[in-house]
This record gives sequence, structure tokens and C-alpha cells, in this order.
Amino acid sequence: MYIVIGANGFLGSYVVKSLVRNTDEEIIATYHGNKESLYSPRVNWVKLDVTDTESIKSLERLVENTAECKVFYFAACHNLDLVKCEPNFAKNINITALKNFLDVFSEAQCLYFSSTDCVYGENTKEIQSFKETDPTCPISEYGRQKLEAEGIVKSYGFNVVRLPFMTGASLLEHKKHFHDNIVEKTREDQDFTLADGLWRSALDYESVADILVKLSFMKNVPQTLNLCGDESLSKYDVGVIIADKHNLPMEHIIKTPEAEIMKLFYEKRTSSTAMDNSLLKSVLGVDEIKIKI
Ligand SMILES: NC(=O)c1ccc[n+]([C@@H]2O[C@H](COP(=O)([O-])OP(=O)(O)OC[C@H]3O[C@@H](n4cnc5c(N)ncnc54)[C@H](OP(=O)(O)O)[C@@H]3O)[C@@H](O)[C@H]2O)c1
Repeated sequence: MYIVIGANGFLGSYVVKSLVRNTDEEIIATYHGNKESLYSPRVNWVKLDVTDTESIKSLERLVENTAECKVFYFAACHNLDLVKCEPNFAKNINITALKNFLDVFSEAQCLYFSSTDCVYGENTKEIQSFKETDPTCPISEYGRQKLEAEGIVKSYGFNVVRLPFMTGASLLEHKKHFHDNIVEKTREDQDFTLADGLWRSALDYESVADILVKLSFMKNVPQTLNLCGDESLSKYDVGVIIADKHNLPMEHIIKTPEAEIMKLFYEKRTSSTAMDNSLLKSVLGVDEIKIKI
């Protein structure tokens, strides 16, 4: 049995889709706010608030034997500016709730926790692409909370994947992604401004989800893995890939100096956080991981 915590989010919904396609197992998908469409009769949607211990206990009762479960854990407060403004609110979700969940599901067959490239901080001349063994130096409260969460997850013997900026068409009716906004705006002949910077080893949600599902079939997966694409891409680069794929008018994709975009944020962002994915590629036995839109 699979359990997807935060299944009604962007990544969670892609993982549910991938599980339906690639496994025959029962799937419990948890939602927090809005309840979305069922992807398959095999998916049992359950309401769960990870900050409510009673809610976690009722999930445990539903599952009966937690040792039979494979878990993907995506619930998070991950808006960097919100985490900066409301650190305690965020910590309650990102740390306290996670710990409570792990106490109940400590016997799970496996658990994959979605961490972030923000744990590394800024690339340097010496480290232009972070390996899992490189020192971590988060510059945001979000990065610090995810790093603390990673430590907790690993202390239970479970796995952490460090994810980059992800994009893709939203599978959800209740929220649009960056990808959808670019497509809609430029189709309406509106300009879309994108930073000539904010370099990340970006990857699409579908590839991330399919890789996570593959990892869940494997044994002895390294506890910490960078799960990202081969190339370091600016936000503008990602916009161009999306525009190209959808045949959108390229003149509406407007390159803006990174410094201008940085002024719009409350929390600090790194200019470049590229990650090295060679460990992941050796685990999967593949030569390349390219963003697919
Ligand atoms: N997006 C990125 O580029 C990116 C990059 C690196 C890492 N990540 C990590 O990847 C994970 C998934 O991100 P995403 O892009 O799929 O974002 P998302 O759509 O916002 O997914 C997060 C999910 O967490 C759920 N959640 C929040 N509070 C909860 C609570 N108290 N109880 C239960 N569920 C709760 C949300 O449900 P509601 O919306 O109903 O509250 C939402 O479905 C997150 O852990 C994030 O930190 C994302």
C-alpha cells in the first residue's frame, strides 16, 4: 500500500498519477484543504491535517498495519516569504507535525521526504554544483527548517530527496502553477517577466514523480539524494522551454535582471543553487535527466 501525504499539491498529484500508472497497489492520498477529482477508483482520498495528532491517528487506524506502507511525505509550508514572516507557524508544519507523523509511521517500509536545494545555499567558484556530501549552508529560514526536518527523517532511517525548482501543468483545478500562468498570459498576448538568473537544476513534476515511484521499488537507496535535472537553468530559460513547447509567442517572454526580481521578495534567495545528480543517475542506471515540459 502507498500513502501520499500532501497528494492534493502539485507534486503529490503527479505522484498519485504515476502510482496509478506504474503499480497495482492500493493508494491512500491525503488532502488538506480542497478535495480534488479522483484519479482512479484505486485512490482512497482521506482528509489529513498533519498538525493534528488525532488526524494522524485516524490515518493509522485506517491503514491498520503501518509496516506494509510505502509513504511519500510532501506536506509543507514552503513559501519562502511566508516562512520568513511566520516562522513558528511554518515550523509547526515543517518540523513538529513531521515528527509526530514519523512517530506513528516509524515502521513504514519506506518513506521519501521532499526536501529542497535551499539547504545548500549559494554555489561558489569551488562548488558550482552541489553534491550530497557538500556542506549545507541555507540562507533562508525555509532552508534551515528543511535541513532540520531532513535530520529528523534520517534519524528514523528514512530517505530525503533534495528537489530543485519544479514546473509543469497543474493537474489540479483549484490552483495554477507558474507553467499555467505563462501559457495563459502569453496566449492572451500579455507579457510574462522572468528573471535572468535564479539558476536551479530545474525539473518537471512528472519526471520527479516517476523517479520517486521508481526509487520506492528499490532497496538500499542512499538516504540523501539530489533529485534534479542535468542542467542549471535560469527562470527565463525555463520560461523559454515552456513557450517553445507550447508554441507561444516568444516576444512575450521578457528577460528581466535578476536584481529587479530579487527586490520583489521578502526572504533572501540564492542567485545560483545548482545540484549534481550523478549519484541519482548511478542509482537509476541512466545517463541523463532532462527537463520535459
Ligand atoms: N515547488 C517546488 O519547486 C519545490 C522545490 C523544492 C522542494 N519542494 C517541496 O516539495 C513538496 C511539494 O511541493 P509542491 O510544489 O507540490 O507544493 P504544494 O502544491 O504546495 O504541496 C504542498 C502540499 O502540502 C499540503 N499541506 C500543507 N499543510 C498541510 C497540513 N497541515 N496537513 C496536511 N497537508 C498539508 C498542502 O495542502 P493544502 O494546499 O490543502 O494546504 C499541499 O497539498 C513540499 O514539501 C516542498 O517543500 C517544492
